[in-house]
Amino acid sequence: MQQRSNSDPQQPTTQNCVSRDDLRNYQRMDINILPSLLAADFGCLSEECRRVAASGADALHLDIMDAHFVPNLSFGPDVAVMAHRTLPSLPLNVHLMMTHPQNYATRFIEAGAATVTIHLEAADDIAATLSDIRKRGAHPGITLKPATPADAVFPYLPLVDEVLVMTVEPGYGGQLFMEAMLPKMAMIRRVANQLGMDRLQVMVDGGINAVTAADCAAHGANAFVAGSSLFRLKDMQAGVNEMRQAAANAYGRDLGV
Ligand code: DX5
Ligand code: ZN
Repeated sequence: MQQRSNSDPQQPTTQNCVSRDDLRNYQRMDINILPSLLAADFGCLSEECRRVAASGADALHLDIMDAHFVPNLSFGPDVAVMAHRTLPSLPLNVHLMMTHPQNYATRFIEAGAATVTIHLEAADDIAATLSDIRKRGAHPGITLKPATPADAVFPYLPLVDEVLVMTVEPGYGGQLFMEAMLPKMAMIRRVANQLGMDRLQVMVDGGINAVTAADCAAHGANAFVAGSSLFRLKDMQAGVNEMRQAAANAYGRDLGV
């Protein structure tokens, strides 16, 4: 585990504008771990879904790519239907990397998605799509590419239950975590708390393992998508437990922005 200079969450040393009440909120957040099915063995997807459920993970992350918004194709709503039928109690967290997420959001909600997250760089009416997702009974989420600044997401915060900070360029699994995204998640957490949204899920996606999860947690992230680092393990439960513990220990520690 990486060492941090500041180990006492009550005594932040980085430039930090959060009150002690805010810190108490940060310390109460649940830590959520979401394995990404993109890194699964596609030869036995329903078995892989069972492995995720048995690991104690909080939800299954589904990466939907349209070969237009990102230069890759993954899978469609039928895989969400399969996952939901295999494990109705495992929440599905759907990440739409699509230029036109509006119509597909409904398809994934009908397939059983608990959360549908769209990119703020998509071409559809973002606010209308988020409102529609909520109206249809799912949690709306918004996500931003690495080059998109944190303040672009602020107008949408009242409309969402989750902000997904991409910590790699979307499109492929197995990439290296971008440390430069840490101040972005800290800023989003801080602004969300200022707006009274202390239950907002601040999620990270790309290059997440126990070490990078702890860094993100220290900067206010409480939900962690992990593909290759979890699926490559024989014992996924041990990996989920280790990531959860590492994140819980670090949560809120370095909330300088
Ligand atoms: C990237 C996807 C990620 C990906 C993460 O476009 O959004 O969810 O599966 O994979 P790892 O954890 O391997 O970086
Ligand atoms: Zn994703």
